[in-house]
Amino acid sequence: MSSEPLGPMLDQASRALANAHAPYSRFRVGACLRAESGRLYAGCNVENASYPVGQCAEATAIGAMVAAGDRRIVEAVILSEGADPCPPCGRCRQQLAEFAGPEARIHLCGPEGVRVTTTLGALLPMAFGPNILSP
Ligand code: THU
Repeated sequence: MSSEPLGPMLDQASRALANAHAPYSRFRVGACLRAESGRLYAGCNVENASYPVGQCAEATAIGAMVAAGDRRIVEAVILSEGADPCPPCGRCRQQLAEFAGPEARIHLCGPEGVRVTTTLGALLPMAFGPNILSP
C-alpha cells in the first residue's frame, strides 16, 4: 500500500473548497483525488438555484480527472468545515466506485487535517459495478 503524503492533496482540496459555490447550503466542500498516474485532481461543490441540480465536490473532481485522461483513483481527500467529518453522499460513493476499487482510501478531513480514514469498500459494500452488467 503506497502512502504518499497527504499534504499536497489537503492543499488542493482546501483551495477548491475556497472556490465552492454553495450560496444555498453554505456548506463548502473540497475534494482531491490521487489517480494511479500520481496526478491530483481537485473539485468543489457547485450548487444551483434549482437545488437538485447541484453537484458535489467529488463529482467535480471526478470530472476533472476523466477530462484529463485518468481513470483510476487510488485515494481521495474530502474536506469540509463542519464539526463532524463529511462522509461522501450515496451518489458520490457510487461515482467513486466507477473509478476506484474497494481498497481505495477515503480521508475525511477538516481544517485541522485528517479526521477519519476509511475505504471505499467500507463505505459502499456490495457495490453495483460493471461486472453486474455482463451477461
Ligand atoms: N456535498 C458534497 O459536495 N459532497 C458530499 O459528499 C456531501 C455533500 C455538498 C452538496 C451540497 O452542495 C452541500 O454539500 C450540502 O449538502
